[in-house]
Amino acid sequence: MRMYELIMKKRNGGALSKEEITDMINGYVDGTIPDYQMAAFLMAVYFRGMTEEETLAMTQAVAQSGDMVDLSAIEGVKVDKHSTGGVGDKTTLIVAPIVASCGVKVAKMSGRGLGHTGGTIDKLESIPGFQTSLSQEKFFETVNKAGLSVIGQTGNLTPGDKKLYALRDVTATVDSIPLIAVSIMSKKLAAGSDCILLDVKTGSGAFMKTVEDSIRLAEEMVTIGENAGRRTIALITDMDIPLGNNIGNSLEVIEAVETLQGNGPEDLTEVCVQLASNMLFMAGKGEMDACEEMARQAIQNGSALESLKTMVKAQGGDVSVIEDTDRFEKAVYRKEVLAPRSGYITHMDTEACGIASSLLGAGRATKEDAIDYTAGIILKKKTGDYVERGECIAELFTSDEKRFVAAEEKFDAAICIADEAPNEKPLIYARVTKDGVRH
Ligand code: URA
Repeated sequence: MRMYELIMKKRNGGALSKEEITDMINGYVDGTIPDYQMAAFLMAVYFRGMTEEETLAMTQAVAQSGDMVDLSAIEGVKVDKHSTGGVGDKTTLIVAPIVASCGVKVAKMSGRGLGHTGGTIDKLESIPGFQTSLSQEKFFETVNKAGLSVIGQTGNLTPGDKKLYALRDVTATVDSIPLIAVSIMSKKLAAGSDCILLDVKTGSGAFMKTVEDSIRLAEEMVTIGENAGRRTIALITDMDIPLGNNIGNSLEVIEAVETLQGNGPEDLTEVCVQLASNMLFMAGKGEMDACEEMARQAIQNGSALESLKTMVKAQGGDVSVIEDTDRFEKAVYRKEVLAPRSGYITHMDTEACGIASSLLGAGRATKEDAIDYTAGIILKKKTGDYVERGECIAELFTSDEKRFVAAEEKFDAAICIADEAPNEKPLIYARVTKDGVRH
C-alpha cells in the first residue's frame, strides 16, 4: 500500500497491519518516505491513537532500525531500568548497585541531560576518569565482573527513533502517549535486557504532569514490553518535588553515595528501595516483601556501595572520591537563597528548579555546551517544611559568579510560601503490571 493510503487509513480511524507499519518505518528510515508524509501520519496518530498491535509493531520496527544489543554473553537474568526524567533523579546510581549486589546483572545504557532534567551519563562523568564509552567486550566484561555497568548509548541504537523524534519535535506531535511509548520502549527493546523497570515520573518536574497521563503512558509501555516478551513493571513516582536534596552532577553523585551508606534523604531512599525491589522481583529473586528486605539489607551491609565502587574502578574512575566525597572538586562560588517571608513551602515548581540548576552550569543550553560538574543546588527546605523569614532555603553553587542572577531569579519564582501547610502527597502513586494498576 502507498504511504498516502496508510495516512488516510489512520486519519479515518483505521488500524494498520504489522506489515504495513514495518514497511512504513523501514521506508522512512531509508529515506523513501519523506518527512512530510510521516509528519501527516504522526498527526493522524496524535488524534486517532494506535491499537495494542500497532504500537507493538511500530516499537519493534523502530527497535530493529538499528543494532539490537545481544546480551547473551552476560550470564544470568539482565534487568534494565528507565526513568522518564526528573530533577534530582539520581536513582540509577543507587538502584543499579543495589540490584547488582543482590546478584542480578544490570547492563545499562543511559542518556545525557535533556532540557531541565539531568542525565546519568553526565553525573557519572563528574567522577574523574570515569569512562562512559566502552567497547562491547569491555562492557560485557564489566557487567560479568562488577555485576553492573552504565555506559552512554552506542552509535547505531534506534536510528529510526532519532529521526522520528526530530520530526515530532517540530510538528507538535511529541506529547502523544502512544508515540512516547513507542519511542521509549524501542530503545529498551534494542538495549537487550530480559526485564524492564519503568520509573514514570509525575508532577511539575516531569514530562507527564498528571497522575492519569502517567498511568496511561505506563500501561502502554508495560503492554508493549510484555507483548515483546520482556517482563515489564512501571512505578508512578512523584516529581512534583525534586527527589532528594541535591541537584547537579557531582552533588548528585555525593548524595547517591550517602544514600548507599544509609544516610540518604528519606524520599530518595524509599523510591530507590521500591525500584530496586521490583527489579529483583522481576529477576525471580522472590516475593516482593523478600525483595524489599534484600534491597534494604544491601544498603545496610554496605554491599551496594561496594558494587558502585567496583563499577567505578572497572570503568577507569577515581574511586577515592566515592570513598571520601569531600575529594570531589568544589564549586568556586556559593550563595544562599533566603526565605522572603515566614510560612510553609506549599509548592516548588520542579521544572523551574531544574532550569535554575542548569543556569548555574549543571546543564547545557545547546548540545555543544560544556558542563560545570560542580554546579547545582542543595535544597535545605522542601515542600511541606516551615521556614522563618531570612532562613536559608537552598544553597546555589557555580564556577561562574555571573550565573547567579538568572538562576536565583528562576529559583525564587519556583518557590511558593503560604500560611497553611500543604496536603502531603504520596511518593509512589501506583504500580502498573500486566495484571493491572495497583494504587
Ligand atoms: N523520552 C523519549 O525517549 N521519547 C519520547 O518521545 C519522550 C520522552
